[in-house]
Amino acid sequence: MPLDNEHLLHEDSIDPPKGFFERHPGTPNIPGGWDEYLKLYNQSIENPAKFFGEKAKEFLSWATPFTDARYPPGNGFQNGDSAAWFLNGELNASYNCVDRHALKNPDKPAIIYEADEPNQGRTVTYGELLKDVCRIAQVLTDLGVKKGDTVAVYLPMVPEAITTLLAIVRIGAIHSVVFAGFSAGSLRDRILDADSRIVITSDESLRGGKIIETKKIVDEALKSCPDVRNVLVFKRTGTPHLPWVEGRDLWWHEEIIKHVPYSPPVNVRSEDTSFLLYTSGSTGKPKGIQHSTAGYLLGALLTTKYVFDVQGDDILFTAGDVGWITGHSYVVYGPLLNGATTVVFEGTPAYPDYSRYWDIVDKHKVTQFYVAPTALRLLKRAGSKYVQNHDLSSIRVLGSVGEPIAAEVWEWYNEYVGRGKAHICDTYWQTETGSHIIAPIAGVSKTKPGSASFPFFGIDPVILDATTGEELKGNNVEGVLAIRNPWPSMARTVWKDYNRFLDTYLRPYEGYYFTGDGAARDQEGFYWVLGRVDDVVNVSGHRLSTAEIESALIEHNLVGESAVVGFPDELTGSAVAAFVSLKKDVDNPAEVKKELILTVRKEIGPFAAPKLIILVSDLPKTRSGKIMRRILRKVLAGEEDSLGDISTLSNPSIVEEIISTVKRDA
Ligand code: PRX
Repeated sequence: MPLDNEHLLHEDSIDPPKGFFERHPGTPNIPGGWDEYLKLYNQSIENPAKFFGEKAKEFLSWATPFTDARYPPGNGFQNGDSAAWFLNGELNASYNCVDRHALKNPDKPAIIYEADEPNQGRTVTYGELLKDVCRIAQVLTDLGVKKGDTVAVYLPMVPEAITTLLAIVRIGAIHSVVFAGFSAGSLRDRILDADSRIVITSDESLRGGKIIETKKIVDEALKSCPDVRNVLVFKRTGTPHLPWVEGRDLWWHEEIIKHVPYSPPVNVRSEDTSFLLYTSGSTGKPKGIQHSTAGYLLGALLTTKYVFDVQGDDILFTAGDVGWITGHSYVVYGPLLNGATTVVFEGTPAYPDYSRYWDIVDKHKVTQFYVAPTALRLLKRAGSKYVQNHDLSSIRVLGSVGEPIAAEVWEWYNEYVGRGKAHICDTYWQTETGSHIIAPIAGVSKTKPGSASFPFFGIDPVILDATTGEELKGNNVEGVLAIRNPWPSMARTVWKDYNRFLDTYLRPYEGYYFTGDGAARDQEGFYWVLGRVDDVVNVSGHRLSTAEIESALIEHNLVGESAVVGFPDELTGSAVAAFVSLKKDVDNPAEVKKELILTVRKEIGPFAAPKLIILVSDLPKTRSGKIMRRILRKVLAGEEDSLGDISTLSNPSIVEEIISTVKRDA
């Protein structure tokens, strides 16, 4: 639906801060402010092919121009399918991120690397990045990687992670990054599912002063991946105790010097796949979310340009990992497509102390800072003294991502970090959306603490009644969030499973993309994302599937059944609680609980570890055997008065036992 001011009253919202303009080096990318946003937004909704066609021509470099900006022409999801974009066009992602800037301005910094230890970083210029990307592209070609092949990446946050991604897409191959906090088992599953034959990793990683034995995890995973031919290893720590498989393992530094500093990019078609990124859904099996090339690039480029108002000389610091979509879109692609400088930070916000982010901002004069609320909660709790003694006057935009930001955390961010002079942009989006879909435009949109505000160009959000699927029109409505039309950077499919893609996103509510989130539109038209309505828990901004954790727990030989639910946590947003019934009585339940936590750490990764394990003799089930997680959630929240009718359970008496166990243990 087009937006108009009549429905957007903005009475109790906050204007873009004046300080944003005082700190601005020139003119914002949407100089006409709110009226221009409305005009552009309405154009993007009324004629997406025209709107995005023009933007794609203006901002992307094409080897072969596209003929049709959108197929099928028109609007909306037609016949239950999504749309394809920029047909018959050809381009290369690494050319768009690197070559075109390097050719003009080779000495401009592309990457500022902040190593785990302060003062051990370095800067990589666009010219240097181009050479490294070209050399690694040739290494990969030598290893037999061809257009359309997938390459698995398991790397820490070092500049070589960016080089790797861009080298892969330079030869038309597909990157499949696995967050380096995932366990060997999770890495193995993703390598097998994506059918990757090459893995790129490091000897070890450093985070918060701790060493992680990255290559050993890869070796463990590869025990069950017979098709992996080679492992390219970047030397990060130079540990002398590195296991090595002769013939399979190759050193990055030895391979890279074999090649010349330039190799031409391999052009791909717009809709060719640029990457897979696995994410959790309602079932135990992670989905390989598959993204296009041109549409994805355009989404990352435009949102970085407009939401964050990135200008050519800006320095963007996204404190997220390249193993998640935030790292893909706003550490790598968005900043580089815009020719800006991106900060690659290897460490944690608490090392060497809680002022690390602010040290980095001051040291490099960061203009846009972007992080998940979970880090802000930690820093707020640590005390404002860590931020107060910093200048921070370079910052114009403060972004938030991954989970709802509570009003008091928003206010803290605004007051202590932004000093009232930065625009706070709470960006709502998902792995599947590729780039921001609901977010304030810096310097343009009014904001309210906790609301992601208004849709980005080309996004037509709707609130639906969860049960009937009926659209809830007007303001002051609450339901599930869906999008009425396809947009260029949305995922194209689940790797090798289009049917699952349709089942998850396009079939639940016909004619819409279903986000899986609950949301409200308030009396002034602002959107408020209320959290997942499916079995997904958001822990510290990491998306976890309860079913996946349940499958991990069952690997322990004592576990009979388990049910995993999320519960509110002050620091991590949500935390994981696992209700477990054991196959037999045990003498030492505390020990078993520890083992269960270890099992999840080992099967998935440390970040998925349950905060609470509750041993019970049975789980509440319907007569058909379905576990009633809703009851478990209510018991954990102390809402046992509102459990509803439990007499229809096959085992109603278990509820009393669960309530008293939770009271005792939780
Ligand atoms: O529930 C929403 C939450 O994170 C989910 C997407 O997770 P993921 O694919 O891992 O991507 C995270 C980084 C974009 C969403 O379905 N979410 C994301 N951003 C916000 C949010 N919830 C509230 N407010 C946000 N700004």
